[in-house]
Amino acid sequence: MPGINDDFIEEVRSRNDIVDVVSGYIKLTRRGSNYFGLCPFHGEKTASFSVSPGKQMFYCFGCGKGGNVFNFVMEYENFTFMESVAHLAERVGMEMPEVRYDEKAKKEADLKSRILEVNKDAANYFYMQLKGQNGDIARRYFEKRQLTEETIKKFGLGYSLQYSDDLYKYLKNKGYSDDILRESGLCLFDEKRGGHDKFWNRVMFPILDVSGHVIGFGGRVMGDATPKYMNSPETKVFDKSRNLYGLNIARQSRRGNIILCEGYMDVIAMHQAGFTNAAASLGTALTSGHARLLSRYVKEVLLCYDSDNAGVKAAFRAVPILKEAGISAKVINMKPYKDPDEFIKNLGKEEFEKRISEAENSFLFEISTIANGYDLNDPKGKTDFLGEAAKKLTGFTDEIERNNYIDTVAHRYNTDAGALRRKVNEIGLERGIVAENAPIRMQRQKSIKPKEGFDKSQNLLLTWLVEDRNLYDKVKKYIRPEDFEGELYIRVATLLYEQMEEGNPNPAKIVTGFTEDENQAKVAEMFNGAVFDDMSVSEREKALKETIIKMKQKAIEKMSREAGALDVGGLTRIIAEKKALQELEKLVI
Ligand code: CTP
Ligand code: MN
Repeated sequence: MPGINDDFIEEVRSRNDIVDVVSGYIKLTRRGSNYFGLCPFHGEKTASFSVSPGKQMFYCFGCGKGGNVFNFVMEYENFTFMESVAHLAERVGMEMPEVRYDEKAKKEADLKSRILEVNKDAANYFYMQLKGQNGDIARRYFEKRQLTEETIKKFGLGYSLQYSDDLYKYLKNKGYSDDILRESGLCLFDEKRGGHDKFWNRVMFPILDVSGHVIGFGGRVMGDATPKYMNSPETKVFDKSRNLYGLNIARQSRRGNIILCEGYMDVIAMHQAGFTNAAASLGTALTSGHARLLSRYVKEVLLCYDSDNAGVKAAFRAVPILKEAGISAKVINMKPYKDPDEFIKNLGKEEFEKRISEAENSFLFEISTIANGYDLNDPKGKTDFLGEAAKKLTGFTDEIERNNYIDTVAHRYNTDAGALRRKVNEIGLERGIVAENAPIRMQRQKSIKPKEGFDKSQNLLLTWLVEDRNLYDKVKKYIRPEDFEGELYIRVATLLYEQMEEGNPNPAKIVTGFTEDENQAKVAEMFNGAVFDDMSVSEREKALKETIIKMKQKAIEKMSREAGALDVGGLTRIIAEKKALQELEKLVI
């Protein structure tokens, strides 16, 4: 890691007991030598999230997320690795050493902070132009949209002049290089015109991240020209899929939820009306990155998308993404108006407050949307609709929850709950998700694929080695790190064997050594092959022996493939290995 040395990181890790840390976020219950709880990273009702105090790691058998205490905090808080180190260091009262970045990281960090500076200067410039003598047209535009001075200031709104290179000149005058201006996305370059501005003759909306840095801009035409909005391109500091407009303010709101809408003007209109918990995605669909960001602040989101078809569809798509991040969604109905901006202008904030309190839970919203497509006064229309609704109701895996929804739907649409329940079960049966007279049980939504045979064996072995020192002494004679299959496995096994030799197995430390998230999760999975407590001693021994033999056979096969017919050394080794295998088969573990 750049700057901060590994010993420091390891000390932070070892002083933050993972069970303590995780318990600060979710409720854990002890079962055998591990702790279990509901996974915070995917919606679930049975606890498949495990924390091992011995290994100092967590692993979810449902969604496959796993890692050490750093990974947990990174995932939960949406922190970078370094942020998680800093957070946990502070937690145990350790002071972060001064960061000395390596060359590359330092350059990257410099570039980012330079772009942020450019953006900040540009935002100030746009604001000044709005206030200045050429800003009339933009001031009138905002007036027409009924924005107050205070709102304009709060959101730092501005104006880019009619000239197409005045910002470029202004920033050059401040000493910025063409390179950095290009990187900021604010200026474009071509041979004919040289440097010029991306935005001109538009009202400007600076986009801030949650810490208040200006990371990009949206610019709106003041009339009907197209495109209506232009936005900064993705840059080193601007990632649309991880930022939400207005969240820097909304996250501080004490309302307990966040209202998610579609556009800049919606957010601004809502804040002006006192709904300071409004935020919007930046002209893109909601991503899991957004959802995770939101989950740092709230457990509930009120979707306030446009009431047209596109908006309704977008709301449907957002619901499961939010759910995955542990956020429940409700939908605000704005009819007959298109968006919250129009709604508030026409009906005022009290009416909007009412719509908030009437916001429908996302399932019932979906059902009423389906109902709109049928004529419920017509017996056939009503029957067809209830058939559709029944299909949707099979989606609830929990019987009590499902029955509650069946009752509500039956009541709301004037039909017999018992009949609806039978219909739901019938459909569930057809689809093979329900056994006769049994509650509907669907497969876990996003359960990871069962591990392919051999990786599973390798995971079992690594897991067991950590848990049982005696086993290691027996096994190391037969299985060496090179006998594992796959580069990542060999690396992990090598590190683990080193630690075992030192008498100090520390899988959580091994995880820290892998820099990519993906690899960290894979390594975490390797050390969570199975939980011993669930097996009897004889089952365990049988499984272990089978695993070791399988691994040895694989290693011999690989050697045979690699050794040429004339490679005498290779052949001798293979013979020796085969002998070891025979010994192994007789071994009592
Ligand atoms: N958007 C965009 N590019 C466009 C149109 C829209 O990036 N050409 C994004 C903007 O972030 C915009 C959001 O999509 O805020 C919603 O679009 P729309 O509803 O058309 O705009 P409003 O924010 O409602 O703006 P206005 O009320 O001024 O029309
Ligand atoms: Mn609008």
